[in-house]
Amino acid sequence: MKLKVLVVAGDGIGPEVTSEAVRVLKSVADLGGHDFQFSEALIGGVAIKAHGTPLPDATLNTALGSDAVLLGAVGGNEFNSLTPDKRPEAGLLKLRQALGGFANLRPSFAWPALAVNSPLKAEVVDGADILFVRELLGGLYFGEPRAWDRAANSAWNTMRYTKDEVVRVAKVAFELASARRKKVTSVDKANVLEVSQLWRATVTEVAKEYPQVTLEHQYVDAMSMHLMNTPRSYDVVVTENLFGDILSDEAAVITGSLGMLPSATIGGKVNLYEPVHGSAPDIAGKGLANPLGAILTAAMVLRHSAKLEQEAQSVETAVRSVLEQGYRTADLARGQQGVQTLSTQQMGQQILETLKVPVG
Ligand code: NAD
Ligand code: IPM
Ligand code: MN
Repeated sequence: MKLKVLVVAGDGIGPEVTSEAVRVLKSVADLGGHDFQFSEALIGGVAIKAHGTPLPDATLNTALGSDAVLLGAVGGNEFNSLTPDKRPEAGLLKLRQALGGFANLRPSFAWPALAVNSPLKAEVVDGADILFVRELLGGLYFGEPRAWDRAANSAWNTMRYTKDEVVRVAKVAFELASARRKKVTSVDKANVLEVSQLWRATVTEVAKEYPQVTLEHQYVDAMSMHLMNTPRSYDVVVTENLFGDILSDEAAVITGSLGMLPSATIGGKVNLYEPVHGSAPDIAGKGLANPLGAILTAAMVLRHSAKLEQEAQSVETAVRSVLEQGYRTADLARGQQGVQTLSTQQMGQQILETLKVPVG
């Protein structure tokens, strides 16, 4: 298997966690005789500093010529006073748009060894396994018009969806649910917003093509509560861009740390892989970052781009095994007895060593 991967590590803890994810991919390639080629490019704050723009043309062109793009994180406090179009985050949004992936898969899984890490009761999170399908190219993030009219002390953004945009992401959700527990929960605000009424009507129509899958609708406010009360009752959750951004961070509570969550964006020209967390300026450069979200993101590269399902599962099994042996990064170790606290690199090393022996 041959795969060209562009690594855009970005800012803050981005380079720390992507290094570990790349080490895991290289090890999988060595063990299985695969030819994975890696190149690197700048995005975000580091690209602003080097080239005055958060997404240099060279990065975009290399990305478009790759089989997969693996991103760390972008953003930093020093850019907070810039307008949205100049910030590091604008580079990521432009990259997402150019690569064209519209379905951002964000699994949230209650790892048994981490039950104690969730502030929720173990019996509430035990067995939770949710796949968020976040629409990634529409809604408030990209809708026009958008502006801040300073003179008028007024600002606006536009939440806009076309029916086609909803159909294509809904289909991804139903396809994935068909291969899982056959339930889709669609989240909207159809009691208030026209755009959500279009969303709900469209998802309901798409559902008719998937009679084997149960569809339920939830309002986003109620959903944010149900998610914490009964996380086990969800299988696939499909929702628009901003609601998906918010709910997927909330779902980190089920797992115990935002540092555990991976993502893959599919459906476009080139798949984009990024852990759900950001650049974490509060812990950057200290070796404290949890690399498991990035490593699980590497597993999604294996699953969705390399089509190496077995290998994807062995990475996930290695994560489970390392957690079960009591290894933790600082975010997962607080207040716990009998665990061994590792740095970012040491955690990556544990995964590599576990991968080398057959894991069951
Ligand atoms: P964040 O996700 O960076 O951090 C939130 C909290 O979670 C922090 O306390 C952080 O220390 C912790 N955390 C995050 N990842 C962790 C990890 N791997 N291991 C251990 N702890 C971890 O969110 P924020 O602080 O709101 O945002 C910081 C910057 O990151 C902002 O500029 C934001 O725009 C950007 N951001 C980027 C992405 C991305 O590039 N995909 C995603 C989210 C936020
Ligand atoms: C995420 C992030 C991004 C988003 C930002 C950094 C643009 O929060 O990937 O969850 O809002 O999509
Ligand atoms: Mn987010």
